[in-house]
Amino acid sequence: MPERILVTGGTGQLGSAVVDRLVTAGERVRALSRRRRRGAGADWVVGDLRTGRGLDTALAGCDVVLHCATDHRHEVDVMRTLVEAARWTGNPPHVVYVSITGVDRVPLGYYRAKLAAEELLADSGLPHTIQRATQFHSLVRAVLAGVSRLPVAPVPRWRFQPVDVRDVAVRLAELANAEPAGRVPDFAGPEVLTATELTLALLTASGRTRRVLPVRLPGGLYRAYAEGGNLAPGHADGVITFQEYLAQQKDPAALRYH
Ligand SMILES: NC(=O)c1ccc[n+]([C@@H]2O[C@H](COP(=O)([O-])OP(=O)(O)OC[C@H]3O[C@@H](n4cnc5c(N)ncnc54)[C@H](OP(=O)(O)O)[C@@H]3O)[C@@H](O)[C@H]2O)c1
Repeated sequence: MPERILVTGGTGQLGSAVVDRLVTAGERVRALSRRRRRGAGADWVVGDLRTGRGLDTALAGCDVVLHCATDHRHEVDVMRTLVEAARWTGNPPHVVYVSITGVDRVPLGYYRAKLAAEELLADSGLPHTIQRATQFHSLVRAVLAGVSRLPVAPVPRWRFQPVDVRDVAVRLAELANAEPAGRVPDFAGPEVLTATELTLALLTASGRTRRVLPVRLPGGLYRAYAEGGNLAPGHADGVITFQEYLAQQKDPAALRYH
């Protein structure tokens, strides 16, 4: 059992679900944010993973770091700062990094940075685990909310396997209590659905009707998704479906917006 777990990005979509999960399980949780925070049952520490400010205090006495923070423009710098700060502690913690299914297949700048951050951690000599996950329900909803505002919703012929952050949080809590394992199998949502099916579910849940038009687009990014680069075939790990996620939102009208 780890004595204390540090959650970076404790205010984020995933990180806040992870903090909830760990606190409910009775773990001693420290959470990092760039701003002063209180509550959620965690011991909050102010720190910045780009500058290194506050990381010595954040890491002191932690056996495990669940690294859920992300900085889209500086993902690798953030990992480098975390690795260096972790090396400076007398007893380097087990660092668990959350990455994304398909970072090595989908040609997006953010994905290339996630892959480079994975490699940096793997080569760091620190005890580590790398957990890739498929797209979160909230991200898929936000992307499809954008296209479904048009009178006819043009939807790429892609499939998604969205996963709920609460399910990913359960998995990360398990990894926090497990031995470092390097890269572990991807963690994926319970269903593979076409973007058209997901858009229709979103339209129904937000009380709208639109014609949905499946489209093909030019380019390598379209092709990588069309070939299923974002999917984890053979995995159905999470249990909360996209429909259940939509039904649980308090304000159906808010589902229309990014
Ligand atoms: N979204 C998806 O579909 C998806 C799928 C698979 C994996 N993932 C991965 O899951 C992880 C979490 O994603 P998310 O969507 O939950 O993120 P998010 O909601 O955007 O949260 C980002 C977090 O990072 C923290 N942060 C950003 N810059 C920081 C810095 N310089 N120093 C310290 N903290 C910093 C923010 O904390 P403060 O603002 O409080 O400082 C915030 O809590 C990411 O690594 C992402 O790549 C995401």
